[in-house]
Amino acid sequence: MPRATLSRIQTPDFARSMATTSPESLIQQLQWRYATKQFDPQQKIAPEVWAALEQSLVLTPSSYGMQPWKFIILSGNAELRERLVPHSWGQRQVADASHFVVFTVRTEVTTSDVETYVERIAEVRQIDKSAVDPLKKMIEGGIVKGLSASQQHDWATRQAYIALGNFMTSAALLGVDTCPMEGIVPAKFDEILGLKGSGYATCVACAAGFRANTDKYAQLPKVRYSAQQVIEHR
Ligand SMILES: Cc1cc2nc3c(=O)[nH]c(=O)nc-3n(C[C@H](O)[C@H](O)[C@H](O)COP(=O)(O)O)c2cc1C
Repeated sequence: MPRATLSRIQTPDFARSMATTSPESLIQQLQWRYATKQFDPQQKIAPEVWAALEQSLVLTPSSYGMQPWKFIILSGNAELRERLVPHSWGQRQVADASHFVVFTVRTEVTTSDVETYVERIAEVRQIDKSAVDPLKKMIEGGIVKGLSASQQHDWATRQAYIALGNFMTSAALLGVDTCPMEGIVPAKFDEILGLKGSGYATCVACAAGFRANTDKYAQLPKVRYSAQQVIEHR
């Protein structure tokens, strides 16, 4: 009998029965991950694993579903990545990791962005564009007219951090190491990556690959406040 597959129409009960992870192994993987300081430059992420990690970026939820981002993936590109290192506080993860993701976001959110988005909804859901008018008006009121350009950029940046979290957790579940990186100079990245005038700007980055066995940070206990300190049940 063919193996059942999980699709959006299935119930949560079915989804749980199909889960490839358990509560215990989820926690184990999250404990296993750490912000990797030294990557092994020889070890590359397999194409099918990388394809899944790209999907973790694509499938990231965002406010209104607007997806105000573009993810720039550098794999190989040795010369370009070396040029980014001095603008990353000298952090070698940029050049040494198998893949390096630069998270860029819209510098401002325009009516044209909203138009593109509602067209996509109509296309995917096979509905008339007029059916999406209320949503269009809501986004225009809330984001395009309701926020200044710099607030729109901040809003877009917040969405990109959700993608960053999704990406790192997905990587951990697949046994791939990551290092999220705010220690970069976004304006220099924009210059080197040719983003100036594109309507997108760098906000954060993430290296992905496999830890070098010399990375002493892998041994350090994780420093977290206790659940009692950061979680309040009411
Ligand atoms: C948004 C963000 C930016 C970060 N930037 C850097 C960075 O530039 N370089 C680095 O080595 N670690 C960076 N870190 C890693 C954090 O220092 C690390 O996640 C934190 O100390 C917790 O440790 P753990 O990730 O190993 O559990 C960053 C983490 C986050 C979430």
